[in-house]
Amino acid sequence: MPFVLGLNAVFHDPAAALVVDGEIVAAAEEERFSRRKHGKRPVPFSTWELPEQAARWCLHQAGITPDEISAVAYSYDPSLVASQVDADITADGWEGLRTLYAERAPRFLSTALPGLDPAAVRFVPHHVAHAASAHLAAPWPTSSVLVLDGRGEQASHLAGRGVDGELEILAAQSLPHSLGLLYEDVTAHLGFMRSSDEYKVMALASYGKPTFLDELRRAIRATDDGGFVVEPLDLGTFAKARPADGPWEPEHADLASSVQTRLEEVILDLARWLHARTGDANLTMAGGVALNCVANARLAREGPFERIWVQPAAGDAGTALGSALHVARAMGDQPSPMTSAALGREWSEDEIEAWLTMAAVPFERPPDVAEAAAEVLANDGIVAWFQGRSEYGPRALGNRSLLADPRHEANVERLNDVKGREQFRPVAPMVLAERAGEIFVGHLPSPYMLFIHDVRPEWRERIPAVVHVDGTARAQTVDRAESPLVARLLEAFARRTGVPVLVNTSLNTAGRPIVDDPRDALECFGSAAVDVLAIGPFIVRRAALFAGSRT
Ligand SMILES: [Fe+2]
Repeated sequence: MPFVLGLNAVFHDPAAALVVDGEIVAAAEEERFSRRKHGKRPVPFSTWELPEQAARWCLHQAGITPDEISAVAYSYDPSLVASQVDADITADGWEGLRTLYAERAPRFLSTALPGLDPAAVRFVPHHVAHAASAHLAAPWPTSSVLVLDGRGEQASHLAGRGVDGELEILAAQSLPHSLGLLYEDVTAHLGFMRSSDEYKVMALASYGKPTFLDELRRAIRATDDGGFVVEPLDLGTFAKARPADGPWEPEHADLASSVQTRLEEVILDLARWLHARTGDANLTMAGGVALNCVANARLAREGPFERIWVQPAAGDAGTALGSALHVARAMGDQPSPMTSAALGREWSEDEIEAWLTMAAVPFERPPDVAEAAAEVLANDGIVAWFQGRSEYGPRALGNRSLLADPRHEANVERLNDVKGREQFRPVAPMVLAERAGEIFVGHLPSPYMLFIHDVRPEWRERIPAVVHVDGTARAQTVDRAESPLVARLLEAFARRTGVPVLVNTSLNTAGRPIVDDPRDALECFGSAAVDVLAIGPFIVRRAALFAGSRT
């Protein structure tokens, strides 16, 4: 029985995944264990840091020890870089150090996971890992594949075709040209955190106009070979650099809008080039740029492909799964499609009860936690919702969520206050899949929150908390068969309010990773203005907590 452990460690978002007999058994990001957002700093000096805790948990989940691992798939191949690295690794530039750390990873791994044979480690090219996370995990055996990120070993893009699991690479764009790094530069220029806050630029873009589009069209353009050019840009000529706590000027939103628009245009050009060569109906995507749900929606609307599937862990965390799937297939397994992002840790009722008892918080066990939570939500309470396995990837999809009533516009500010984040940030709706079309227009179903949708005009007034300034929402559709408990919660809320929609944002506060274990949930609940924690079958009420503290 082949056990393949996949690891992402090189750039950011370290993660581990385990594939057993071609089945995805477990996948989790290191940040959920270490409680350090994004796992580590995205600098070459941190390349040595491995997702040790996530890897150990993957093995525990399968009940195996390190010596039973058939192969470790590491989502970066240092041999693709080594020939170009200066022999003096102390020289200026970081490639030498990054390459050395990656080359030594097998030995380091064998100390982190005693018993592991260093020879079991296989290096998988970064973009092959991203591509595998898309075409091998998608619901179709054959698809065109588009990967776009900041960078891998030498490239920032891959266009190809997966046919029955076999990847044919049709194009790859070499560095320094990179759409992902350009977007990171803009993120940093606007005072946000690079490699982390790119989605804030996307949200800010809605407030601006693409006034710099002409200049960007000259500098950033697709080429005839399926790649693209990104000429060096002085972003300061468009908008002055904003310090993290600096004031907002209209030019900042205009820059965000211009770059976002140009990104969408170039992605459309890349997709058209790819489609012209493959003629496929299906497109699969991965790489950090594929988390741009505004661009994805435009690609679905205007692009040449009939269907699009985006890896929910599209960023580098997803390469842990992709590299594992790639190696599992190379060893003769036929990978099974990914049907859910709920691949992380979970706790039994007894374990959760033990945590609550240890914390000495008053809790109750209602007949149905979905009904009890719906009652609180319908009365405009905020609910921290902790159920089942935690999600792999950056989105909370109903297992580690903060929920609220979408009928009250003030809930945007309330949630952003709870989470300590900027007020221009939209919050997203979850909706019963079978009723999504009544309310939202766009790419449906949308189980992973990777596309934005237009909210039908007659619904905009009814669910103002989830409608962004431009009339859109990033809807997540909830399928009854895949998420029965969340579907029941939405039904219970709809029965009380006539609205089959809830506000869903991730269960964390600013700068912290999403809650993963019951203690994280209790810590988050204890430090934020949340009315109820619905954890497993139990309910913890803030009012009862305070009442208890006075006795
Ligand atoms: Fe990547």
